[in-house]
Parts: sequence; structure tokens; C-alpha cells
Amino acid sequence: MSTAGNTVYSTSPSGENFAIPPKEDYDGEFQRVEKLVDQAREENKEIVVVMGVGFVGAVMAAIIADARDKTGNHSKFVIGCQRPSVRSYWKIPMLNRGQSPVKAEDPEVDELISRCVLTNKTLIATYNSDCLKLADCVVVDVQCDFSKNDLGCMTTGQADMAALEATMRTIGQNIGPDCLVLIETTVAPGTTEFVAWPILKKAFARREIQSVPLLAHSFERVMPGKDYVASIRDFWRVCSGCNPAAKKRVEKFLRQVLNTTDFPLTVMDRPIESETTKIVENSYRATILAFLNEWSLFAERNGVDLIKVIKAIKARPTHSNIIFPGPGIGGYCLPKDGGLGYWAYRHILGFEDGDSFFKITPTAIDINDTRALHVAELVRDALRNMGRYIAAAEVLLCGASYRQDVGDTRYSGSELVVRKLTEMGAEIRVHDPYVEHWYEFEKQDVYPAPGHSWSRFFRNQDELTNLRISKDLSAALKGAEAMILAVPHSPYLDLDPEKVVKWAGNPLAVIDCFGILTDDQIGHYFRLGCEVKALGRGHIQRIKEEVRKGRQGEL
Ligand SMILES: NC(=O)c1ccc[n+]([C@@H]2O[C@H](COP(=O)([O-])OP(=O)(O)OC[C@H]3O[C@@H](n4cnc5c(N)ncnc54)[C@H](O)[C@@H]3O)[C@@H](O)[C@H]2O)c1
Repeated sequence: MSTAGNTVYSTSPSGENFAIPPKEDYDGEFQRVEKLVDQAREENKEIVVVMGVGFVGAVMAAIIADARDKTGNHSKFVIGCQRPSVRSYWKIPMLNRGQSPVKAEDPEVDELISRCVLTNKTLIATYNSDCLKLADCVVVDVQCDFSKNDLGCMTTGQADMAALEATMRTIGQNIGPDCLVLIETTVAPGTTEFVAWPILKKAFARREIQSVPLLAHSFERVMPGKDYVASIRDFWRVCSGCNPAAKKRVEKFLRQVLNTTDFPLTVMDRPIESETTKIVENSYRATILAFLNEWSLFAERNGVDLIKVIKAIKARPTHSNIIFPGPGIGGYCLPKDGGLGYWAYRHILGFEDGDSFFKITPTAIDINDTRALHVAELVRDALRNMGRYIAAAEVLLCGASYRQDVGDTRYSGSELVVRKLTEMGAEIRVHDPYVEHWYEFEKQDVYPAPGHSWSRFFRNQDELTNLRISKDLSAALKGAEAMILAVPHSPYLDLDPEKVVKWAGNPLAVIDCFGILTDDQIGHYFRLGCEVKALGRGHIQRIKEEVRKGRQGEL
């Protein structure tokens, strides 16, 4: 945040300052929006307000704005609405310029937003939530977080419903009686019917509106990466409504804006079923990842390469979705969604016996949240085998994001690796070809929210605000005593051990967290005098012994 006189600024990630509008600007802003809406109505367009233009809302807004009716005309006029907060206001002026507030590896994101704003003129953004008065349909894409109070103990955490509840209140105060409200936010099961619907009903009662609010739920399955837009538009959806009228309306709306011909829509009886679908599918994914942690440790200690085991299992079509867990799970959804379900069972649905049967989902999340700590142990042990200590060692982490070839760092295992090694006294540098700023460190006092940084679980974290991402691998390696290959980004897959050792200037410890190294590369590192360790790859010890024997044979 910055201020000049009385003006408060919201700063975009690229450092551009946008003045937050004062209250006296609100009327003029509403008139601007109203004029554009009048024009759109004349063209028979439906007016859609998307609340929250973050990772999901900004792109969903553009997908809706790009939709065409059977005659080929654009059928919707979309208003992206965002709180004018210091943290988020900048998204509004950026969108109005036709620029995406979301940085994505998918080039279609920028093209789509620019086309809808500048060419089609079917997408605008505003900070004035009075725009809700003009809506035929409201899509809610604000966040609903799950905050954990302890590292590795999901059950002591709680859902943070404040943004969603505030949004529902604002919607209830403003929308017309026939407006459809569609919650896309991943919510704790029961939220749509037992939290959001009552808020809307109370607001309607206060406004003496007799009709029942039309409320529906349909969650997002968006995936960061090069198919970002398609993962929203061309993907299977699930939906439901609080009553038959809402169900009919949401089904019609989704069929108009998404590719439901190729990716059929599933309509559930009740929103709690749609909400539960999202929570169960992500808990399932979190569980199959966590399940392999124990076999990863088994493999490390018994000469087994889990990567080859998985490959062998995958050959069997019934088991083709088995996945190696890497140094933690990360992403916005898998670490939290099971927690929303566990929490809802007690705090929304009113049951006290959750702990008697919720065993697997909490354990899976706890395992995933702490798997990265083992990477720090491997770095320590590899250095020890080279006669060095972790304290004051120069360690390069390659890969800050949570999955390969994306720049998304949310809850990445790499963050925990950095924090644990820093606590142990290592000097950390980071390379990532896709990440510009690692805000989890640079802004750890306020990101992801004040008091929510993982820094609170570790000591000696203050200096990490100075951590910057290098894009030059050879420079980043100079003088490094250890290199952690944390994410299988394409540039890391065929790194030449000769070059790595040359750039580092000395043999170093190499830690493979994601089955990145081939057996040839591992052998090569050993021949160069390096030490290699890896998550789930116990056969490395065998390669080391073979290299040693080979050397003795040479003598
Ligand atoms: N990002 C993903 O990869 C992903 C994938 C699947 C599902 N989801 C779900 O989608 C939902 C949204 O996630 P996101 O990643 O877009 O979050 P985000 O934090 O990027 O965006 C949320 C936006 O809502 C805004 N907001 C908050 N309160 C508001 C209010 N009262 N009025 C207007 N705007 C408000 C915030 O300022 C922010 O810009 C979450 O439930 C998430 O679980 C996300």
C-alpha cells in the first residue's frame, strides 16, 4: 500500500499504483455502468455480475462475456465487481484496460480478456457494488479459505467465511427478486442452503420482497497451466439449485456459457451434493497423494525406486491415476478442501462425532502439509555425507511453484523446504523459470493474509523477505553446496551434470524431490564426486555403490 496526501493507492504485482476512488466518485461510477447496461439491454443481452475478479472470477467473467446465442450474437454483458480494497482494487482498472489481472501460462487468458473488453465490449469492471441492482444473474467467485492453526494438524483449523458472507449480504441488499445467484466458490458443504440462502432470505424480508431468492451452486475445477481457459469452459460441470426454479435457471445459464455439449453437465438434487462433490473429489486426490508418502519412505530405506514402481503400476489401466507426491502437494485447493468438509460437519451441520470417523481425510492433509520437512532432512544428510553442515551451507532450490511448468506458488512444498532449511541455518537462493515474485516470502507479513504466513511455524524467518527469484541457473548455482530439484519444470529435466558441477564450481549435494533424475544422471553426479539423495528413490544407494566399485576397479 502507498499513500499520497489523502489518496490511498492499490499496487499491482508489477508495481503500478492505482488510486483508490473516494466516496464522492461512487455515483458517477454507477452512472457509467448504468449507461452501458442500458445499451446492452437494448441489444437483448442478459446482465451478469461476477463478484470477485481473482484467479477464477476474472477468467469466468470473460468466458461468460464471450458467450454467443444461437444467432451468433453475444448474449451477455458482464460486470466484474471487486471490493476497492488496498490489496485488490488494482484489478478493476487493469480489467477495464483489457488487461488480465491474472498471470497465466495460457495465452488464451490475455487474448480472451482483451477481446471481450476492447473488441466485443461485453466486459467491464467496477468497484461499486450497486451494479448488483442491474443484474439478471450474479456469479460469486470470492474466496473461502480454511486457516490452519497448527502445522500438520488440519482438525484444529477453521473455515474463513467472512468474504463470502459479506458478499452474500451485499447481494441480498441489492439484487432484484428474479435475479439468479450462482455460488462458484468452493464452500463447506451446507453453506449454500444453510448459510448463504438464509442471508439472502433475511435481506429480502427486510426489503419486503415476497419471493424466494434464486440461489444455486456450481463449483470450479480450474487448473493453473497452459489450458487455464479450457479448464473452466471446456470441462465437466456439476450444479444444483436451492429450489426447482433456481435449479432450472442455473442449468440454463451454464448451458449458455460453457461447452456442455462436449463436456456434459451433471445436475444434482441439492446444493449440498454439488458442494460435497467438490470436497470429496479433492479429498480423494489429496488422499492418493498422501498414501504414497509411507511407501516413499519405505522405498528410500529398502533400495526401491518408487518412480519405477509407479510406472509399473500405471501400465495397468485400472491404476493409471496413481501419482508420485513430490515435496508436498500445494495449490489452492487440495490443502484446504477436505478441511472445509470436516469443519462443516460440526459447525454448519451440527454433528459432534466427526473425529470418530473422519480419519483418512485429515491424516492425508496433515501428511501432505508436512512431507516437505523430510526434504530438509535429505539435504542435511547429503551434506553430512560430504563432510559438511547444513548450518551456513549455500543451498539452491530449483522450483518455487507447486507443480511443473506453472508459476503458481500457493502452498507449494518448496515454501516449506525453504522455511525449514532457513530455520536450520542454511543460506537459501531460489531459481524458477516461471515465477517472478515469491510473495509468500517477500510479503510474508501480509500474504496470503496478515497472520497467515507459514513463517509462524518456524524460527529465524525474518530475513526471508529479501528472497528473490533468479532466472539465470548458471549464476544461481555459483558456489552452491547443494541443489534441490523441487519441481519437474521442463528446463530441469535434462540438466547436464557436468555443467551443473562446473557452474557450482565444486561437487555438490543434489536432492531430487520429484523423480526428475535418470539413473544415468544419478551415476554421473556420483562419478563427479557429488552426493545424491531423493524422495522415494532408495536405489540411489545401489547406483552409488556401483560407481564406487567401478572406481575401485579402475584403480
Ligand atoms: N485458483 C484455483 O486454482 C481454484 C481452482 C478451483 C476452485 N477454486 C475456488 O474458486 C474460488 C475463488 O478462488 P480464487 O483463486 O479466484 O481466489 P482469489 O483470492 O484469487 O479471488 C477472490 C477475489 O474475490 C475478491 N473479494 C473478496 N471479498 C469480496 C467482496 N465482498 N466483494 C467483491 N469481491 C470480493 C477478492 O478481493 C479477490 O480478488 C475459491 O473458492 C477457490 O477454492 C480455485
